[in-house]
Amino acid sequence: MKIESQNVTDYPNSNTIFMVWRLVDDPKLKEIFQQLSALVLNLNNSVFNRFPDSRASCVMGIGHNAWKILELPTPLPKELVNFEEIRGDKHTAVSTPGDLHFHLRADDKSIIFDMAIEISKLLTPVAESILEIHGFKYWDDRSILGFVDGTENPHNEDRDFFAKIGDEDLQYKGGSYLFTQKYLHNINAWRSLSVEEQEKVIGRSKENDIEMSDDVKPSNSHIALANIEGENGEELKIVRDNMPFGSPSMGEFGTYFISYASTFSTTKKMLTNMFIGDPPGNHDRILDFSTAVTGTLFFIPTKNMLDDFSG
Ligand code: HEM
Repeated sequence: MKIESQNVTDYPNSNTIFMVWRLVDDPKLKEIFQQLSALVLNLNNSVFNRFPDSRASCVMGIGHNAWKILELPTPLPKELVNFEEIRGDKHTAVSTPGDLHFHLRADDKSIIFDMAIEISKLLTPVAESILEIHGFKYWDDRSILGFVDGTENPHNEDRDFFAKIGDEDLQYKGGSYLFTQKYLHNINAWRSLSVEEQEKVIGRSKENDIEMSDDVKPSNSHIALANIEGENGEELKIVRDNMPFGSPSMGEFGTYFISYASTFSTTKKMLTNMFIGDPPGNHDRILDFSTAVTGTLFFIPTKNMLDDFSG
């Protein structure tokens, strides 16, 4: 049978809603989860048919505790655990709870707003919403810090290769590991830097998004620490779909970091480099202006699995 993944390799769109829910103990939980799995498949089919050009999709992720509570298949996906915080000398990648994650994308916000309504209607009796973020495309895919975000993401077959589980975990082939962090930025401190200083934090030029050459790129710049290789020098990548969010009048400026990966250990290695540093102590300068207030790992089952879950 053909394995169909959820839309983990879709590109970021103009509008995104992220939602995280915590399940409560309720006798109807399993029955509602069955209906939810069917709803996710239906929402995708429906928008694909009604608005084929909108690049709209809904991706559902499931956390480690939820997998157990819902008695989903065993053994679990090999790397599905509760994310353990990563504590550096100065900054910590915190671990926060989350049972279900929704990543809703479309060019027109109306589409995802209605998807969020349908999901919320179904889940409210058996779950509590613990996060909802409305992200938006900022200029030419810039993060709220003003730098283009997503440039070195994999494309084409590489996108599938780095985002989806392959033969290493046959039972979960086509699935993916989703890791998310909500970051809040100290925008005043960031704005007090000159453009040249900001460029040294990221490792790329601000206006034209050009990578600095290795002889000038600081070793604590974001891209120096996030760019990693495997033991045999092979490239290790993840598919990032970060979105900016914020409320200027309230001084809130944020990045919702979101990544899909065939293996969580790649994402974890990047986080370790950023928060602990490489060598330890040489942490990512971006963290001096960005605080991770959440950190949660989810598993993305294939559409075939959602079909099984729907009973
Ligand atoms: C690159 C922003 C967090 C992994 C970049 C770039 C920007 C950026 C502007 C350069 C352009 C690009 O290639 O995309 C941010 C912001 C973050 C954040 C604003 C949150 C405050 C993270 C985290 C990870 C990560 C938590 C990994 C766990 C990467 C990777 C690259 C990158 C792998 C490409 C490095 C390369 O090969 O050049 N990020 N990022 N980022 N980021 Fe982040």
